[in-house]
Amino acid sequence: MSAAERVAALRLETLELHLTDSILTIAVHRPEALNALAPQVIAELREVFGLLRERLGRPLVADGEDLDWSIRGVILTGTGGKAFIAGADIKTMQTMTVDDARVYASEAHELFSWIETLPVPVVAAVNGYALGGGCEIAMACDVIYASENAKFGQPEVALGLIPGFGGCARLQQYVGIAHARELIFTGRHIDALEAERIGLVARVLPDTGALAEAARTTLLQSAAQSPVAVSLAKRAIRAAQALPTDQGIEAELEAFVECFESDDLREGTTAFVEKRKPQFPGR
Ligand code: CAA
Repeated sequence: MSAAERVAALRLETLELHLTDSILTIAVHRPEALNALAPQVIAELREVFGLLRERLGRPLVADGEDLDWSIRGVILTGTGGKAFIAGADIKTMQTMTVDDARVYASEAHELFSWIETLPVPVVAAVNGYALGGGCEIAMACDVIYASENAKFGQPEVALGLIPGFGGCARLQQYVGIAHARELIFTGRHIDALEAERIGLVARVLPDTGALAEAARTTLLQSAAQSPVAVSLAKRAIRAAQALPTDQGIEAELEAFVECFESDDLREGTTAFVEKRKPQFPGR
């Protein structure tokens, strides 16, 4: 069974899944808590991204040549129009022990690293509040698009907490250390246009309809390219983010050279020379 077929068979309580034209939309649905990341939401996101991680870009059948590219992009969003994700679940954290907190954050960290290493692009479509853990999961995606009503922030210090789902590390990568410190130390919310100005958001759309359309258009545009090349580019970009520049460049070299083992490179370059559209085999 392909990843798309497996995803279609999942039954989840806090996530709504829609698959169209190889683009999977995952919408967090906890209307009573503005889609806050309760442990159950983290567990269900782990189920979906864990499945994608195990399957995508891997042989469809044992020893088979064809790789599973049945899903070519993922959109992460929230239901309800008011919130993308309003953070980690404050009511759950109120009674957590130190050990519970370690498990909660470790499972979130692992999930976020699965998103970052998925071989297909993931767009966060932020349609309302993206606070605390909501902003943090958006930053683990490849690109953040926002509707005009979106609000971002790391308000944890107001709760006696710090950003604990990767915000201290990732926010400075997006916006630079000065903006990151200012946002984290004050906990203030910023609107979509300010988030775009400081580099957190790639594009602001007028409303949620335009937001969904833009995310989909970007992923479909990416899906028309070589899946091997897109996944290797994602790997090289992440390596460059996490490593010192010289090691990042080394990782890029390895990924570049790996392209030359692929049928996609033969097809892409041959199609260019023959002046036709490439038909990428995805291997
Ligand atoms: N966790 C649990 N429940 C939440 C929640 C959260 N993060 N955010 C909102 N809710 C709940 C509210 O408690 C409320 O439930 P009740 O009706 O049962 O009281 C419901 O969602 C609606 O929220 P509000 O009534 O507060 O809605 P509002 O329009 O007045 O305000 C808001 C909206 C400004 C987003 C406000 O809800 C808010 O400030 N939420 C908390 C945001 C936050 O601090 N997030 C960071 C969490 S800590 C974290 O994420 C740590 C980490 O890094 C891992």
